[in-house]
Amino acid sequence: MKETIMVRKVAIIGAGVSGLASIKACLEEGLEPTCFERSNGIGGLWHFTDSAMDGRASIYASVCTNSCKEMMCFPDFPFPEDFPNYLHNTKLQEYIQMFAEHFDLLKYIKFKTLVIHVRKRLDFPITGQWEVETETEGQVELDVFDAVMVCSGHHVYPNIPANNYPGMEKFKGKYFHSREYKGPEKFRGKRALVVGLGNSGSDIAVELSNVASQVYLSSRSGSWVMSRVWENGYPWDMLIINRFETFLRNALPTAISDWLFEKQMSRWFDHENFSLVPVNRTLRKEPVFNDELPSRITCGSVVVKPGVKEFTESSAVFQDGTVQEGLDYVIFATGYTFAYPFMDDESILMCRDNTVTLYKSILPPRLEKPTMAVIGLVQSLGSAIPTAELQSRWATRVFKGLCKLPSESHMMEDIDEKMGKKLKWYGQCDSLQTDYIVYMDELASVIGIKPNIPLLFLTDPRLAVQVYFGPCSPYQFRLTGPGKWDGARNAILTQWDRTLKATRTRIVHSPQSSFPLCAFLRILALPLLIAAVFLVFV
Ligand SMILES: Cc1cc2nc3c(=O)[nH]c(=O)nc-3n(C[C@H](O)[C@H](O)[C@H](O)COP(=O)(O)OP(=O)(O)OC[C@H]3O[C@@H](n4cnc5c(N)ncnc54)[C@H](O)[C@@H]3O)c2cc1C
Ligand SMILES: *[C@@H]1O[C@H](CO)[C@@H](O)[C@H](O)[C@H]1NC(C)=O
Repeated sequence: MKETIMVRKVAIIGAGVSGLASIKACLEEGLEPTCFERSNGIGGLWHFTDSAMDGRASIYASVCTNSCKEMMCFPDFPFPEDFPNYLHNTKLQEYIQMFAEHFDLLKYIKFKTLVIHVRKRLDFPITGQWEVETETEGQVELDVFDAVMVCSGHHVYPNIPANNYPGMEKFKGKYFHSREYKGPEKFRGKRALVVGLGNSGSDIAVELSNVASQVYLSSRSGSWVMSRVWENGYPWDMLIINRFETFLRNALPTAISDWLFEKQMSRWFDHENFSLVPVNRTLRKEPVFNDELPSRITCGSVVVKPGVKEFTESSAVFQDGTVQEGLDYVIFATGYTFAYPFMDDESILMCRDNTVTLYKSILPPRLEKPTMAVIGLVQSLGSAIPTAELQSRWATRVFKGLCKLPSESHMMEDIDEKMGKKLKWYGQCDSLQTDYIVYMDELASVIGIKPNIPLLFLTDPRLAVQVYFGPCSPYQFRLTGPGKWDGARNAILTQWDRTLKATRTRIVHSPQSSFPLCAFLRILALPLLIAAVFLVFV
């Protein structure tokens, strides 16, 4: 057990959603946060700029969230009911601004301030203190902090730099990474190849297909493509991300749960016939959310191709030997890798094989004192905001010694075990992927805020049904324990109303029910049946 020390001053690097959650978590624990943000505003990735800036995430003008508002809010700050279910980036940015103002977080942020160095103080083994060097418009400053929360984002550094492809130097057209892509204007009448079938790649391919003469979309390993609009029009995540489903998935034998997963993923259309099917079908890699891609493919404006082997002056040669001539543009939507250029000793975060090795995906396990946390470095079907919120609440309580840590060797074992599981479920290249509810509950139970479902069924059955069978919305993590929010119960009971409000914008006269029991039961019918069969025969 590592002895904890008095932590008071906390440095937070970055004022994106992770940074804002961290400021709030510090305040709730009586800590003194100072947040450094290199740009002139909050919101991080969601703070749109007309051109990509060095060292910052950059999005295209049309980005829309793929988590719905009820599943992606800060747990004690629901979205206004008239906001759409899935939000354009400007609308999300508006919400983030409202959140920061409501909780009065802005005064803790130093804008236009770049963190250039973070290093242990000489007496770190005793004090756990860090030296943080910042630069504000040429002015360098050095300060000492008791703890550091790293919230600098992981959609900044291109995974595969565009010029790393064979033959790229010969290519006469234009090429760039998706972070440089802002909008479709200059592609009118051109032929474009988008490399990579992730959310960005599909969005960009669809958007270009409105104006370009032809769009090709190249994918090496394929992906499941899902719609935001599910059964009867309900947001996908409100139907899919729930506790009961997670329980079933983990209780069923792998073969059955794999089969169910494939069924679920291919409900919308036959992925094989659309050339999108993943090479490894049962890998729980994050699906792509795109409501238009299948229609563009069926109309021929987007043509799906295999991976690129090499480029020539004007063409791309694909892995199947086919050649696409006359390309004007190539956009590499090949994702991101992470880096922490301000860490003097990067091995603190990446202590093995250059991969991030963090206890509970948050804490560097080998520090003499647990006074550093990385917030927001996970990816899951669930949304980033509630995840970062819970992570920062756990981290601040670790700083204060309220959440105890196991020994270093136990932490390393835990990391290894999780890595093994991740390999099995998500494959080699996706070390950030996590099972949302399992992960959230793991943190929640250490903090002491995990809802006690059996007890809830006895004391408040109406709420319990929503919590267990309904969407696992963020409010669930503010129902009890430290940080309890009195509005959480009501927010859960009215979550479907706010969802409906967003689309019922024309008055129609028909009876309405606020809980879509039928849609919900239909989705669960198959797993239920199989579970029943399983329980009877095994
Ligand atoms: C196209 C796209 C769509 C997405 N859609 C969704 C979605 O629908 N739902 C969802 O949940 N997630 C989505 N994500 C994931 C997204 O990463 C999270 O939603 C979230 O914005 C991450 O926030 P963050 O605060 O961790 O990082 P960021 O938003 O990247 O913020 C990091 C901040 O740190 C600052 N910073 C970095 N380094 C320094 C330094 N050295 N000194 C000072 N400041 C620094 C940056 O300026 C920035 O403001 C999407 C990502 C992308 C790329
Ligand atoms: C997909 O293609 C196969 C032939 O390869 C065909 O039998 C099947 O009906 C197709 N499915 C759909 C939904 O079009």
